[in-house]
Amino acid sequence: MAVMTSSPIVRVLNEDVRRYHRWCTPSILPGQERVEDFYASDVSISAGFFGTLVDHTGVFGEAERFAAAAQGADRSMFSVHGSSGSNWVVLRMLAMERQDGLVLIARNIHHSIVNAIKAFNLDFRFLPAPYDARFEALLPPSVEDVTAALDRYPEALAVIYTSPTYEGLAARTPEIAAAVHERAPQALVIVDEAWGGHLHFHPDLPASAMEGGADICVQSTHKLAGGLQQTGLMHWRTERVDSELLEEAYREYVTTSPSYGLLASADAAVRALAAEGEQLLGEAIDRTARLKAALRRRLPDLDHLDDGRWLDAVGRHVGGCDLVKTTVGLSRYDISGYDVAEALVQRGIVIEKAGVQTITLITTFQLADEAVEETVDALAEVLEGRVLEGNTRRPTPGNPFAGIDDRPVIRPYDAKRLAKSIGHEVALRDAIGKVAAEEVEVYPPGIPLILEGFRVSADAVDYLLEARESGGSIVARDTSLATLRVL
Ligand SMILES: Cc1ncc(COP(=O)(O)O)c(C=O)c1O
Repeated sequence: MAVMTSSPIVRVLNEDVRRYHRWCTPSILPGQERVEDFYASDVSISAGFFGTLVDHTGVFGEAERFAAAAQGADRSMFSVHGSSGSNWVVLRMLAMERQDGLVLIARNIHHSIVNAIKAFNLDFRFLPAPYDARFEALLPPSVEDVTAALDRYPEALAVIYTSPTYEGLAARTPEIAAAVHERAPQALVIVDEAWGGHLHFHPDLPASAMEGGADICVQSTHKLAGGLQQTGLMHWRTERVDSELLEEAYREYVTTSPSYGLLASADAAVRALAAEGEQLLGEAIDRTARLKAALRRRLPDLDHLDDGRWLDAVGRHVGGCDLVKTTVGLSRYDISGYDVAEALVQRGIVIEKAGVQTITLITTFQLADEAVEETVDALAEVLEGRVLEGNTRRPTPGNPFAGIDDRPVIRPYDAKRLAKSIGHEVALRDAIGKVAAEEVEVYPPGIPLILEGFRVSADAVDYLLEARESGGSIVARDTSLATLRVL
């Protein structure tokens, strides 16, 4: 008989994870109600005596109704495939509504939306994308960006954007939703609120998408709203959205074997937030304020994203800031964000995201009391002696989105189909100006920089090479970036 070997995944989860201060997703509410024995209670749809997820019956219907009421929506559905799955469902619904429909999407949209658009062959135009190079952050679209696009494309089926952004910048959704509904009553305002499942539960946080008048939003419950990995919610307004079509898209997509344990965690997390969210988020907000104050004191050369002057300058795009996120710029130091992140891991600290010159930390619910002091000490140690002489700064990386058109040369769906027949690989720099037949991004944040069907821009190539050189993780067929497939 073969000897049973030990699973490395089980080992890492049991032995390693809890040794780190985790300023990264998932943000788990420690006090949420828990399934007593995850293994003993794992069941399938065959045990249908307590209802069915896709029929919205039994305990699942009850949980959905609670989530909708708690989040200020008319209807809600759960996802066990995060916001990636929810985005897929929402885009599928739009494609079923009008196969030739056009959607307006912000350039900072997550790859799950780009991929769904590609799969369902929807037509689309990008909304302009203001970019702040110092924080390597795309800003949400302004009201003017959206209305100008709607004036050009009044037939648009939907306006889709991310809010809050990865860095925690919330769009001016109340104004955007009001303007869209007035100009193009058929157009749905769809907010990718993957990063905003907690917003509704604390008065100092920016308004949630539902509160702001959006028609649909998707949330990752596991990111900032307390649930286990993979969990998510989609919410909508029944008078604006065809519920039957959305439910159909959900049934088409959702696995027939959802983990009820994960669904239980998503339900329990919403209930914990509804009951104690204000207090728990208040503590996380206070802890974030302590972190930022300590960083300003100990490391005065860091740039802070929530600096009042900066926020005033981007006020047309940004309606508020998530107060449990911390993004700092490192241009006064001679070390990349990626190297800082790695040095922190060696000191028992995991952060959410690094960039060429930035790092982002999330104040998760599960952080230990001593996390702030130990993290500031560790960062001070990593940055010791790395500050640039005089008042100099490293040049900021260029804007990787600068050269992108608002529409593809050919639809990404067609580019994908042609990639295998007439696509061919060329050296990355030789690809500039040609039409890409594959997608390339840095992860995180997961926003594609080279998109199928679009001309490859020199800005994107320069940025990718710089990101890779400084230690960023490239998601592509050829992660070495030696070649790119073009048409
Ligand atoms: C804006 C945005 N949307 C969607 C997603 C996908 O979320 P999930 O990991 O829950 O599938 C992410 C993930 O980082 C994201 O940043």
